Amino acid sequence: MKLLDIRESFRKVIEFYTIKHKVYGIGNDYLYGDMHNNENKQLIRILHKITPIIKKHPEFFIDKTVLDFGCGTGEHTYFLSNYVNTIDCFDPQIIHYNWLNTMFKSSNIINVLKEQEYLKKHYDTILIIGVLQCAGDYKYWLSNFIDTMRFDRLIIAFTSGKIYSHINSGRTIRNTRLYDNNMTDNTVHEEEVLKSTHKLKLLDSYHKYIPTSSPGQNAYKRVIHFYER
Ligand SMILES: C[S@@+](CC[C@H](N)C(=O)[O-])C[C@H]1O[C@@H](n2cnc3c(N)ncnc32)[C@H](O)[C@@H]1O
Repeated sequence: MKLLDIRESFRKVIEFYTIKHKVYGIGNDYLYGDMHNNENKQLIRILHKITPIIKKHPEFFIDKTVLDFGCGTGEHTYFLSNYVNTIDCFDPQIIHYNWLNTMFKSSNIINVLKEQEYLKKHYDTILIIGVLQCAGDYKYWLSNFIDTMRFDRLIIAFTSGKIYSHINSGRTIRNTRLYDNNMTDNTVHEEEVLKSTHKLKLLDSYHKYIPTSSPGQNAYKRVIHFYER
């Protein structure tokens, strides 16, 4: 059983992504160097997505075989490597793949997968965080994913009901974290996610309501679903 010290794991991720590997930082040497005003803030925002997940269900991770699907630049993968037995990560973007490979090549806990390699293995837990809003037809995409992948437990985290005005505008889907500015995200509805996951058992869920900040904008919620096959 591994020691569950979330604060220490956070510190390790921040050091790894800012000092050891120049993913977040100020200046052109960094992958996200000129994307955000405050790059550490962006990294901390990403890390906060995993906090309710590990706090609610550490047993989904401790000593398990895990897959982080659509992992972006792998911040959650690296964080979870403190708890799991092994963790595989996959992202379709070649720029992400190259970074993941460089950062994780000396790890004997983390494996970086290529397209289709995730089909070969059975996972105790699969994580899908922030991917639904980037996938084109997320309802079809998700039910197809459930039919195709081999796993015992699935965690899906997404933003529900946040309306993006470009819907049906014909824009292409967002398939990289480099444009993590919501510009080409899809609107995701929790009811639709529940329909797509009807073959699974919903064990638990987490909702955080985000109130409207300006008139004419709808409130939305951050949602996490914990499922079992
Ligand atoms: C907002 S980022 C989230 C990254 C990470 N999971 C996180 O929560 O920080 C969305 C990621 O989904 C990936 N993605 C988009 N469409 C995908 C698909 N069809 N299958 C797998 N990953 C996809 C993108 O490449 C991008 O890295």
